[in-house]
Amino acid sequence: MTDPLEQIDQVEKQAAAELAAVTDARTLEQFRIKFLGSSGLAKNLTKLIGEAAKEQKRIVGARVNEAKNRVEQAFNERKEVIASQPTSDRDHVDVTEPGRRPIHGNHHILMKVVDELTELFGRMGFSVASGPEVEDEFHNFVALNIPEAHPARDPLDNFYLETPGQDGQLLLRTQTSTVQIRVMQEQKPPIRVVIPGRVYRPDTTDATHLPMFHQLEALVVDRDVTMVDLKSTVMQFAYAYFGKDTRVRFRPSFFPFTEPSAEVDVWFEDKQRWIELGGCGMVHPNVLTNCGIDPEEYTGWAFGLGIERIAMRKYGISDIRSFVENDIRFLRQF
Ligand code: FA5
Repeated sequence: MTDPLEQIDQVEKQAAAELAAVTDARTLEQFRIKFLGSSGLAKNLTKLIGEAAKEQKRIVGARVNEAKNRVEQAFNERKEVIASQPTSDRDHVDVTEPGRRPIHGNHHILMKVVDELTELFGRMGFSVASGPEVEDEFHNFVALNIPEAHPARDPLDNFYLETPGQDGQLLLRTQTSTVQIRVMQEQKPPIRVVIPGRVYRPDTTDATHLPMFHQLEALVVDRDVTMVDLKSTVMQFAYAYFGKDTRVRFRPSFFPFTEPSAEVDVWFEDKQRWIELGGCGMVHPNVLTNCGIDPEEYTGWAFGLGIERIAMRKYGISDIRSFVENDIRFLRQF
């Protein structure tokens, strides 16, 4: 068996080495249990007195006491040092600190605007419809009175899809007007719908253009529907959504699927200029016929407005690219 005095030395050395590595209250407590606890190593040294030869008992006893006292003293000194250190954030709980708000994701501003628009038009008696973003040429062009040779069908102005084996070409829809056709094919008048949706065009990106953007389409078909209804609905919307002093103007325009047609502009105070919100007009009789609706009996109007531009006007956003740049500082504002 090892000499008891050597064993005492060893425990003392071990304690000194381990205590030197103690840097916080948690490891200090682990040290206390290991060495000074009721069955700790230093306490266990007492057993050595009983086991020692008779003539050694006094020396071993004195040495055990000395060792225990030294370990205890070193422990207390370390405890004071640690207590005087600033506690790390990890160990420290300040119960008086106000709670931190959990970070919640939120809807993208455009989706909020879509909700606001469908809610507003809902109060004006419109229901909501939707249609596919991948369209065929019938819904994107033919039924909308856009003939084969029309420049709007140019491959440079559309994202056509490569779909070998498919009859006719598919493309990413360039306008939500495609859904007018789908609605009229499925429903008989009276029709009163709005259609929010994503559309795609190979346009050059700038402060008011993106290659993927959103439109809000509206379609009303009924007996005796006139251009006055169209104009008053657009004005009603603009005043309700942007405010009573909003400046709105209609400019004559051309769309193959409406006759007469107009463009709607809104005055942007921050930019000090008119910006086009969208197109509108009376549904062309050919379009009604293409959808099985008798133009002698029914008339209709439609508009298609850019949702990004509506959101820009409403929330004072000066550059359309902000919607897609994923800058959290921008997105969190709404
Ligand atoms: C159309 O898309 C027609 N379908 C609108 C329409 C519907 C007319 C129903 C008549 C009846 P236009 O190409 O002008 O029209 O686009 C409408 C609006 O979409 C524009 O005024 C603008 O607000 C928005 N828009 C067009 N291109 C872009 C783009 N690249 N980026 C962002 N917004 C755009």
